Parts: sequence; C-alpha cells; structure tokens
Amino acid sequence: MNILLLGSGGREHALAWKIRQSKLCSELYIAPGNAGTESCGTNVDIKVSDFEGHKKFCLDNNISMVVVGPEEPLVKGIYDFFKADSRLKHIAVIGPSKQGAQLEGSKAFAKEFMMRHNIPTAVYREFNSGNYEEGVAYIQQHATPIVIKADGLAAGKGVIICQNHVEAVAEFELMTQQAKFGDAGKKVVIEEFLTGIEMSVFVLTDGKNYVVLPEAKDYKRIGEGDKGLNTGGMGAVSPVPFADENFMKKVTDRVVKPTVAGLQKEKINYRGFIFIGLIKVGDEPYVIEYNCRMGDPETEVVIPRMKNDIVELFNAVEAQKLDTVRIEADSRAAVTIVAVSGGYPGEYEKDKIIEGLDLIDAEETLVFHAGTGRNEEGAVVTNGGRVLTITSFDDSIEEAAYKSRANLEIIDFEGIYFRKDIGYEFY
Ligand code: AMP
Ligand code: GLY
Repeated sequence: MNILLLGSGGREHALAWKIRQSKLCSELYIAPGNAGTESCGTNVDIKVSDFEGHKKFCLDNNISMVVVGPEEPLVKGIYDFFKADSRLKHIAVIGPSKQGAQLEGSKAFAKEFMMRHNIPTAVYREFNSGNYEEGVAYIQQHATPIVIKADGLAAGKGVIICQNHVEAVAEFELMTQQAKFGDAGKKVVIEEFLTGIEMSVFVLTDGKNYVVLPEAKDYKRIGEGDKGLNTGGMGAVSPVPFADENFMKKVTDRVVKPTVAGLQKEKINYRGFIFIGLIKVGDEPYVIEYNCRMGDPETEVVIPRMKNDIVELFNAVEAQKLDTVRIEADSRAAVTIVAVSGGYPGEYEKDKIIEGLDLIDAEETLVFHAGTGRNEEGAVVTNGGRVLTITSFDDSIEEAAYKSRANLEIIDFEGIYFRKDIGYEFY
C-alpha cells in the first residue's frame, strides 16, 4: 500500500525509517520531510496542515494510509476532514479525531477527562478572564511552587512553574488579561507542583484495544545536569530503569486502562498514539500531560527498539484488532542524543553545512535528521534548532550513550552543541 507520513522532524525520520522496512509498504511519501527522510521515501512539499493539499495528493497517488506525526494537524481535525469526505474516508488515518486530540489541545479538557475517569493527576482549578479575581484568590492561598498552564497549544512554552505568589499572579494576569499566549492562554489551569522523576509512556490504541510501547525518558533542558532553558528535547533513553514491572503495572491499571476505556465510554474516536507524560511521586504514577502523538526525541529510541512491523500494527489499529498483536522489544538499551544549532532554544542561524554524515557506522548507530535540508548545491545543511539525533544500542544506558556521543564527535557543523550527559542518572 502507499503511505503518506506527515511531519518533518526526527520523530518523522524514525517513523519513515521503520515504515520503509515493512513489506506492506509500496510507496512512502513524507510531507514535507527533511534531508534524512529522502532515504526512506519521497519528500513532498505540502505543509502539515494543508488538508486540501493532502486530499489532492492522496487521490493522485492512491494513498491508503496517512500517518500523522505532529499534533497540529490532529488538533485542527485532519482525521475528521478525511472521514467527512466520501473520496477520502476509506483511507486509514493514524491519529485521533479532533475531539480526541483535545487531550493535548486543551489542558482543561485533559484535566476534566482525568477527573471523570479517576486518573491520578495534580490537584487543579480552571480559570479565565471571567473569574480572574477568584483565580488570584486561589493562587494566594496555594502552596508554592504553583504551576500555571495555558489551556491551548503554546509551542511547548505554555507551562510556567512559579516559585512564589507574586510571580504566579503576574503570569496568570499576563495569560488571561494580556493574551501572552494569544487564545491558547485565555483559559488557564492552575495546579499543584508535583515532585518526582518524569518519564513518558506510549500507547497505541484502536479505540477499543491498546498496546503499550517501550517507555522512555527525555531530557528537556538545554544544559548538562538538567540546567537552563527548556527545549523540545535534547536526548532520550529507553528502557527507563525505575519503570520496573511493578510500577508499569500501576501505570497500566491506573492510567492506561482508564484512559482507553474513558475514550470509548465517551464515544471519542481515537485511533492513534497516546503519549502519557508521567511523574513518579514516591512509588505512584501521576499524569502530567497527554499528547495525541509520539514524543520527539523519544520516538528515536522507542521505534528502533520495536521489532514489530509497524505497518502491521497500523493495520491492526484501522481494523480495531490490536488485541491480536504483541509488542516485541529489543532488550538492549537505546540512547539518542540531539545535536542542536548554536543559540537554540533562542535565536540560531540556519544553512550551516553538515559534515561527517557519511562517516557514521550504520551498523552501530542510527542518524535521524530533524531540522535539515539541502542548499542549492545539494549539500545537507541545518534548517532548524534541533538538527539531528543519533541513536545507539548497547547493554547499558551508559555504554549506549557513550556510542552516541562518540559518533556525534564525528559530525560537525558551525555552532553544533549537544549534551554529553544524556542518561546520566542511570550510569
Ligand atoms: P508540559 O508542557 O505539560 O509537558 O509541561 C512541561 C513541563 O512542566 C513538564 O515536563 C514538567 O517538567 C513540568 N510540569 C508540568 N506540570 C507539572 C506539575 N504539576 N508538577 C511539576 N512539574 C510540572
Ligand atoms: N519530548 C517531548 C515531546 O515530544 O513533547
């Protein structure tokens, strides 16, 4: 079958690499893709939220499956767009409906959903400009730190952890009165700060059944030792040593099962990935957030550890037969390290030539491109903040991290930066 994959990051390169290995895939197209996805299929110059563009492309190229990488098209309703069109509705869309994507698109929706289904999460209240005074009063009697979250998508910047009441009231005012995050912040969630260690759990569901994929932990801060500004993610490890059988059973029983059952009970159409951001407080899992897609860079360790044919899994999602599959995972540790442009997550330059890509030993290490493109001469150049990510396997996280680091030393572009301590707590 012919497959169209939407997106252009490291996550999409990893997905494209995996889809390409399936016997079930004839042609793979990636829209818009990057310089790395070229080696897995054909890049097509269509933006991720250009639904009319996708429609025309699918009809012209006999596409049977659309795999959606990023959240934006899902939150904007690409699933519903396809299902409402008589010429497109036979196409399998791997990703939730617009309503299902609200688990990521609206923090208030996600919190209300968790409350309805008794899923453990931080205690919270929801406010907007209409009950501003009440919100200020709530903040003032709240223990610190206080977490303030813009309701809608805010490019990963909508969560502010405030150390004191003055700062919290100021942020609350900026969001609800001054539109700091535009419409995304008109509504806010104010919640208790949870102390613990974070990890990511990935579920693939067909709306009735589900499978749990290998878990991962990502490293969001720019600096070593988890210091400095938040980024999209600087590296990831899988498996997560503290997520032992006992803890994962709690996650399955208290979070995964009620989430899938809740979606089904509420008749929310959901055939795709659920990314559950968890925090382990003591020995108990709490949900920090849901995302309606895979994580990036977590995908770059989760997908390579999976031995299953991913298109077979997607077919089982479409047929609502996920109860017939079992996830087979490589038992070795995988570590991915992201190389970023100098200055990221602030201002950075693009179009720097990337050297050394052909020197990497492909037997040992996988290179997934994120923000890359080609210049007029055809050379691979930087085209984003997170440029590429290198995944290695070994018996331990420490050894796998060493391999990824050693391989990254071979790659060069002006301003290259990467964290040398990914996975450090597990060495
Ligand atoms: P999010 O954008 O929802 O992923 O939140 C960004 C980050 O903020 C999370 O990865 C956590 O590190 C942190 N965070 C969010 N909510 C809480 C909370 N209730 N307690 C502690 N940390 C939080
Ligand atoms: N790595 C976190 C995310 O994809 O949101």
